[in-house]
Amino acid sequence: MFGPIMRFRANELDIELAPLCKEDMHEFISAGGMQSYTVTKYLSRRSAPTIEDEYQWFEQTRTESSSYVWGIYVHAEGKRCLIGNTAINSIAYHPMSGASTGFMIFRPEYWGNGIASACHKARTWYAFTQLGLTRISSGVYEPNIGSRKALEKVGYIPTHTERNAGFVDGRYISLTHFIIINPLHTHWTAWWHGDPIPSEFLDARIRTQTALEWVNTHVQFS
Ligand SMILES: CC(C)(COP(=O)(O)OP(=O)(O)OC[C@H]1O[C@@H](n2cnc3c(N)ncnc32)[C@H](O)[C@@H]1OP(=O)(O)O)[C@@H](O)C(=O)NCCC(=O)NCCS
Repeated sequence: MFGPIMRFRANELDIELAPLCKEDMHEFISAGGMQSYTVTKYLSRRSAPTIEDEYQWFEQTRTESSSYVWGIYVHAEGKRCLIGNTAINSIAYHPMSGASTGFMIFRPEYWGNGIASACHKARTWYAFTQLGLTRISSGVYEPNIGSRKALEKVGYIPTHTERNAGFVDGRYISLTHFIIINPLHTHWTAWWHGDPIPSEFLDARIRTQTALEWVNTHVQFS
């Protein structure tokens, strides 16, 4: 399934999270994109997809009921350009509701503009205040500093590291697993149910609350 439209600015760029459309799927590969090693090396991918793979993924995504996926579009000079995608995946409700998340900008010229940081706020808002999920997890290969920083800014916390989970550029690399807990009182208390709360989670809760507040004042919904 696809998530609903959310519009906001990141570093002077007009960003729109919106459902993908089949006609845009060629953008994932037309300028290199997912056929480029630079883009995919920290995504656990080895092979380069073709346009047929992209159409197949589009159909799978459109009908997959345990995921919400968004295309990341930039509006500039009268054009609407697809530059990436983000998702809430593997949504499950037992024993406690949760999901995992993913993110990619496949046009490197847009990296470092705060787009991931802003998209994570909007996606987290949707997951926590609209889907009512209690926790979200994500994994980042250790050299991917930009990804780690963007997640930590909205309140993701590292829980453990999986040694030698990948092999990139001639060396084994570790995968750090992250978790973020819904800061809303109902979900927060359900998650901790009286257990002592580590201080890093208390700090993270404030970052997540701040991210959710940012959405209330900076995101436009259609
Ligand atoms: C990694 C990725 C998601 C980062 O997205 P982005 O929009 O460039 O990230 P942001 O601009 O929001 O940057 C977040 C922070 O990381 C920093 N950062 C970004 N890229 C960085 C890099 N290559 N090295 C070090 N720091 C970096 C930014 O300066 C920012 O820090 P700040 O808030 O202290 O200024 C993007 O490069 C990407 O899509 N890469 C390919 C796919 C991928 O790796 N996805 C993530 C899989 S876990």
